[in-house]
Amino acid sequence: MQKVLPREIKEIINAYPEVGRILDEYGIGCVPCSVGSCLLKDVVGIHSLDPEQEATLMYKIEKAIYPDRNVQKPVVDPTRKSAPKKISYSPSVKKLVDEHLLIKRLLALIPVVIDYVESSITTDKDLILRCVDFIRTYADKYHHMKEEDILFKYVDENAEVIQVMYKDHDTGRNHVRQVVEGVEKGNKALIKEHLLGYRDLLTQHIRKEDEILYPWIDRQLSTTQVGEMFQKCNAADASVGDELPRKYEKFINELEEKFLQEVTK
Ligand SMILES: [Fe+2]
Ligand SMILES: [Fe+2]
Repeated sequence: MQKVLPREIKEIINAYPEVGRILDEYGIGCVPCSVGSCLLKDVVGIHSLDPEQEATLMYKIEKAIYPDRNVQKPVVDPTRKSAPKKISYSPSVKKLVDEHLLIKRLLALIPVVIDYVESSITTDKDLILRCVDFIRTYADKYHHMKEEDILFKYVDENAEVIQVMYKDHDTGRNHVRQVVEGVEKGNKALIKEHLLGYRDLLTQHIRKEDEILYPWIDRQLSTTQVGEMFQKCNAADASVGDELPRKYEKFINELEEKFLQEVTK
């Protein structure tokens, strides 16, 4: 088993597809990951499973790779239920998790915004461009920039998990460019395709950050670094002022009011 721990996960899954299924069973989504150069030992480590779960996972993987080997099955107490994992974030990471809440409110509105655009005779350019402004200014400039300029600098930026996050941010920017192109050309199909693409991407991206990446980064921070990061994030927030998050929260409130009324009419 020591031989496969330092191997890239995609290589292992290609050779032993059952390993991908086993990881999936534990909520570890390596199969759809487009990069796949994480090492098996890091994949397991980053998800911070409880010791019993980790031992069982490793046992199943070893059996999948070496079916003829006599592998010792870990002893698991059948009456023991693993408690749902309660994540406690450092203060600046908690603020980033809270910012996700506003972004998720926009993501939830995207299908109804698309329905509205599709059923209208003309394309409501102003509405789409206001959504684009929220994404570019609040989600990207205000939120993603704190991740890229501050948070990610505290860990190895070459780690695959960070590279995947950078790639997601770029893919999101590309979706937004296509939405703007759709608005300029009055192409509703293009707007729909890329708003939905952005929604799917960010839904997964936020889940990965909240559940895996942020806790993984927090676990590596010293107390001094937690304080230093708090100061840096506060300074970044102060540089844009309180007005910016308030403005975009108001926008989401208005959008919900407009479209939730449409839905209940
Ligand atoms: Fe992100
Ligand atoms: Fe984020």
